[in-house]
Amino acid sequence: MTETITLHTGSRQEIRALFELAEDSAAQLDTYLELGDVLVARVGDRAVGHLQLVPGTNACEVELKNMAVAGDRQGTGVGRRLVRAAADLARARSAHRMTVATAAADIGNLRFYQRVGFRMLAIDRDAFVPATGYPDEIVVDGILLRDRVWLDLDLDHPG
Ligand SMILES: CC(C)(COP(=O)(O)OP(=O)(O)OC[C@H]1O[C@@H](n2cnc3c(N)ncnc32)[C@H](O)[C@@H]1OP(=O)(O)O)[C@@H](O)C(=O)NCCC(=O)NCCS
Repeated sequence: MTETITLHTGSRQEIRALFELAEDSAAQLDTYLELGDVLVARVGDRAVGHLQLVPGTNACEVELKNMAVAGDRQGTGVGRRLVRAAADLARARSAHRMTVATAAADIGNLRFYQRVGFRMLAIDRDAFVPATGYPDEIVVDGILLRDRVWLDLDLDHPG
């Protein structure tokens, strides 16, 4: 059964568990959970994925702040369709660029974002450390979680 993707109008707490799939720091999540717009992918009544868009650093930019797909639905194209829907929403709001930040250690996420059209932009070293609310010594695929990678998607020339 294919999901439907709509703007989430209900409580963010209802779908907090999805946000937590993509955020290791509860303290960080508290700072941005209520911001921006959230698209939610539903199959029947069940939320199987979400994508949060917040304003970017300038008026023509939006940031993909958090997204996740429920474990049993991952790898079935929901994430790709959420990014497409977010790009349509951003263009409708006159944005020209979508940025996203992810962990350099998470090779799977880096593959996902590049497969849906994002390109590498910049690196922040030591962004995921206890001082910024992240537990010590998180290891992903054998790589210490430390650095943050920024990628961007050109909304005028996707693909
Ligand atoms: C990352 C995530 C949102 C991707 O959503 P998804 O619905 O599983 O992705 P899709 O099925 O749309 O996949 C699109 C492409 O990305 C690839 N891809 C997705 N996740 C991948 C992974 N972990 N490793 C390698 N490739 C991956 C798919 O293989 C597919 O590639 P293809 O076009 O060559 O077939 C999802 O796996 C997830 O929720 N992960 C946990 C939370 C998280 O880390 N969120 C991102 C925080 S930055």
